[in-house]
Amino acid sequence: MSSPSSADGRLRVALLGSSGSIGRQTVDVLEAHADRFEVVALATGRNAAELQAQAQRLRPKAVALADEIATLDLPTGTTRVRGEDALLELATREDVDYVIVGTGGVVSLRPTLAALRAGKVVATANKETLVAGGHLVMAEAREQAARRAAANAADPLATPLAWLRPIDSEHSAIWQCLVGEPRNGIARLVLTASGGPFLDTPADAFAAITPEKALKHPTWTMGAKITIDSATLANKGLEVIEAHWLYDVGYDAIDVVVHPQSVVHSAVLFVDGSLKAQLGTPDMRIPIQYALTHPDRLVSPAAAPDLVAAAHLDFRAPDEGRFPALRIAREAGRMGPHASAALIAADEVAVARFLDRTLDFPGIPRLLEAAVTRFGGSSPQAPDIDELVALDREVRAAFATGPVTP
Ligand SMILES: NC(=O)c1ccc[n+]([C@@H]2O[C@H](COP(=O)([O-])OP(=O)(O)OC[C@H]3O[C@@H](n4cnc5c(N)ncnc54)[C@H](OP(=O)(O)O)[C@@H]3O)[C@@H](O)[C@H]2O)c1
Repeated sequence: MSSPSSADGRLRVALLGSSGSIGRQTVDVLEAHADRFEVVALATGRNAAELQAQAQRLRPKAVALADEIATLDLPTGTTRVRGEDALLELATREDVDYVIVGTGGVVSLRPTLAALRAGKVVATANKETLVAGGHLVMAEAREQAARRAAANAADPLATPLAWLRPIDSEHSAIWQCLVGEPRNGIARLVLTASGGPFLDTPADAFAAITPEKALKHPTWTMGAKITIDSATLANKGLEVIEAHWLYDVGYDAIDVVVHPQSVVHSAVLFVDGSLKAQLGTPDMRIPIQYALTHPDRLVSPAAAPDLVAAAHLDFRAPDEGRFPALRIAREAGRMGPHASAALIAADEVAVARFLDRTLDFPGIPRLLEAAVTRFGGSSPQAPDIDELVALDREVRAAFATGPVTP
């Protein structure tokens, strides 16, 4: 990316997944700072009504809807892009500077890689980008950063994190803690977890957990998939793998601490014993905005944390006996990209089956372990993008139906 070249100096943004939880909150941020950002492209899956409403308000140049049959009433000047490469086309448009990825699933992996190669900054909430494709996307981000550093070491785009920007609140917190810190000062990363709604539920009650109960997250309001992942702690396991790729830190130096109030979003322990944390209210508009404005900070509509009202903050170790998904994910990360790609594909199947009531709550980690065992060690060579997409399909097909035995 060169400096923004829109006529009025605004950064030009393509938003993938604009109708989802992350997508709508991103639209809030972009609308609040319309003097800084121009929305050039929007994409959603099936929610034609929301895409249409957003297009009428934001007047992007292009939109894409994965549901090709649905019709859209678009404003003059907005074109509909069709076809299986629609996301990639939007993400690599010449008039786009920033790509924000708010889709779930592996669908945005190819567009993310293509956007980085085309010199776009990518801010991503999407887990697959790093859990399945961390070895690919970080290589691209490092290459772009090295090119900048060779020309000017002080260029703000001379670091990989400036190219592949995390939106997940935990990774944003770590990123914020690392600003201005030398790499060799890092001792450990500390990811916080709310613990979900079943933090104190005994293991023998897990089989009776219903989707309705699991969808009630105690602190965050998010899409259904990530809410169930928070209840099983699979989400925290996926975040350990994401942190490994983003910050180039070994699995043995990434801790998870349960913090039910979700005020401390994560922390970094430095070699001198200093622990630096980022605190905030549970509002994704803060990390979304930071990913867009780093290293600058702008006023946000999100409420500030009130430490006096919080009164006390609790921390405890995670119980991997009751929440084995955390252990399984960490092991998958250590095994390598095949295992972590199998894990995240399996997790999507497991959560969908739990929500469909064809799998009980303890069945989710059972399915994850079965998928990692079966597909995790398939080849010593790290998978390329085509292999990742094929592996994703294979894992989904293998576990879509039928009983899951340990
Ligand atoms: N929600 C959070 O607070 C949060 C926090 C951290 C990380 N994340 C991660 O961010 C990602 C998104 O989460 P979410 O909670 O926002 O999910 P969500 O509410 O389910 O939204 C997913 C979005 O992706 C769109 N989409 C699906 N398939 C698509 C396709 N083929 N082409 C274009 N768009 C497509 C959906 O469109 P339709 O709705 O129109 O089908 C929707 O806009 C996930 O990876 C999640 O783990 C979320």
